[in-house]
Amino acid sequence: MKISQKAAAYIGQEEKYGAHNYHPLEVVLSRGEGAFVWDVDGKKYFDFLSAYSAVNQGHCHPKIVGALKDQADKICLTSRAFFNDCLGPYEEFIHNYFGYDKVLPMNSGAEAVETALKLARRWGYVKKQIPENQAVIVGCEGNFHGRTISIVSLSSDPDSYAQYGPFTPGLVKIPYNDANALEAVLEQNSKNIAAFLVEPIQGEAGVFVPDNGYLKRCYDLCKKYNVLFIADEVQTGIARTGKMLCCDHEGIRPDVVILGKAISGGVLPVSAVLADDEIMLTIKPGEHGSTFGGFPLACRVATAALEVVKEEKLVEKAEYLGKIFREEMGKVKSPFIELIRGKGLLNAIVVKPFNGKEAWDVCEKMAENGLIAKPTHKHIIRFAPPLVITEEQLREAIGIIVKSFKDLE
Ligand SMILES: Cc1ncc(COP(=O)(O)O)c(C=O)c1O
Repeated sequence: MKISQKAAAYIGQEEKYGAHNYHPLEVVLSRGEGAFVWDVDGKKYFDFLSAYSAVNQGHCHPKIVGALKDQADKICLTSRAFFNDCLGPYEEFIHNYFGYDKVLPMNSGAEAVETALKLARRWGYVKKQIPENQAVIVGCEGNFHGRTISIVSLSSDPDSYAQYGPFTPGLVKIPYNDANALEAVLEQNSKNIAAFLVEPIQGEAGVFVPDNGYLKRCYDLCKKYNVLFIADEVQTGIARTGKMLCCDHEGIRPDVVILGKAISGGVLPVSAVLADDEIMLTIKPGEHGSTFGGFPLACRVATAALEVVKEEKLVEKAEYLGKIFREEMGKVKSPFIELIRGKGLLNAIVVKPFNGKEAWDVCEKMAENGLIAKPTHKHIIRFAPPLVITEEQLREAIGIIVKSFKDLE
């Protein structure tokens, strides 16, 4: 990719002084607004990654940034050693918004997943009477739940887990989109199984949308065997798939919901675990926490971010615009396009290599033409613009994507 001297200097600095744990596209961003970002040379792009669906409300949303600035002048961090005047109102707001008795606030998505795993084990011992240290949590092959040791212990991707062992015991993997596989493990050993952890759509794996009815069937099996159904909605939640939570598509109410990313509109790392009292109150004071979890800035920012979702009808927009995206891309004849899939504005194109070019080259070409997206795994490009994008902007962006495929033929 051709890059300016200025961009090269920033890239060189990261290369020299930063750990090499990412492989970014060579675009150096310095500003964002709504569905757009600008690089250090002033070039404008459509953002079709939205920081992995964290920026659903668009870059630098004035209401969310306003809440941040307003609170920053008052108090930023109190720790949970004392009360503050933001956390209670936030918790009540979240209760009314999502309809769970309680919220446990954390910061990153991975921390919220860890919290849910601990909560499930604790519930298993206290309520289900699983013998001490025998609790099992079932997850799915192809999952992505974050980067901690316990979470990668459940991963089937060697990039995530290789040479990070020894791994956390008590975690079992079954194939995704296969309710019979869940039934089989539950039939075998349900008395020690505390929870089933699932992404309603596997985002990082390449936007794998399971069959209709899969989640509902898994949910029913969990009820039958007294096992918690935990939905990791870190990427799929907060309007991204055309419902507030992706599980809403199947009319199920998970026992535990994990949220992150867009709960703050991409302004601060904010995450949350939602559950009813029966589950949540099994963790007692001093038994879990985080210095920043539920800090005043986060509470104000997340409240504003969630208000924006309703005020700007982002659920409805994601549903409507997602249909346009899949319909328009479905009409395109290109030797690169093998498959288009997704829900709402979480979509992916499976790219067939052609002419020696693959998904990475397509992303570079799109960047050249003014749209940024990133391959997830080698042959899949995820397309997830901020949900504030307008129909006109979306149609313009589709034009750029189509042109980029054509340019490489
Ligand atoms: C479904 C899911 N869960 C958890 C995470 C981890 O979130 P974080 O990167 O904030 O730790 C991600 C991140 O992409 C995710 O997609």
